[in-house]
Amino acid sequence: MHASTERLGHRLVVEDLPLDDGFGLPLSSPTLRCLQYMHDIEQYTVCYLRELLLTDAHEDPDVTEFLTLWNFEEHWHGEAIARVLTAHGWPAGPERVREVLAAAKSKGRLRPLVFFLGNAVLPELVTVSMTWGMVNELTTQAGYGILARREGHPLLSALLGRIMRQEGGHIAFYTAQARARLEASPRARRVTRLALQRLWKPVGHGVRPVAETDFVVRHLFSSPEGREAAARIDRNIARLPGLEGLHPVTSAVDRVAGQARLAA
Ligand SMILES: [Fe+2]
Ligand SMILES: [Fe+2]
Repeated sequence: MHASTERLGHRLVVEDLPLDDGFGLPLSSPTLRCLQYMHDIEQYTVCYLRELLLTDAHEDPDVTEFLTLWNFEEHWHGEAIARVLTAHGWPAGPERVREVLAAAKSKGRLRPLVFFLGNAVLPELVTVSMTWGMVNELTTQAGYGILARREGHPLLSALLGRIMRQEGGHIAFYTAQARARLEASPRARRVTRLALQRLWKPVGHGVRPVAETDFVVRHLFSSPEGREAAARIDRNIARLPGLEGLHPVTSAVDRVAGQARLAA
């Protein structure tokens, strides 16, 4: 096992948490809607893995070891959240995952082809993917934290806190990979900068309906705390070589908040 993945590959410990009775108290409907989105995306990780393995990332044993352990951990995040959703009468688990995958397949039929062909003409796609992974893990971790504080339920906070700790391991790996690859290649810096500027969307975009992604972004990140979290993530991104001055997360929050204002 490589030093960078030593912390990874652990099934989430939840045996002491009463997941199957929904923590004994109702959770609010917006919280359950966010949890369902998170469940869906955690369980979609295996499809992100498929796309990543179509790039040259599959030739780097540091990365393949990470991806193996990462996929395992994300799966158990989804499983734990599924138990909470089921206890509250919300669709979750294998049937729900089947529906999510089927819906995403019809919308994203060409995504694997884009990764396969993109990798053939653009070796920097691995750097873009590592940087993308960092941003998505940072936003996911921040989202869990905000959700826990907004709901204020100690047992939900305990569950999400444990998930957040594992997301921290994912952040550390993706950040180290992104930094090293960006430092090594001016071309990778240019391509990644352009990709983040033009193409980055919050995780789950293209997998779940836009209205669902927008709801989660608005619910979690449009408050002062959410905006501060978005700005903090953007500062992390801007500290990477070649990515100075970028603020993709704040821009995404502004876009969704702007749409809400127009609709009001
Ligand atoms: Fe996760
Ligand atoms: Fe993660």
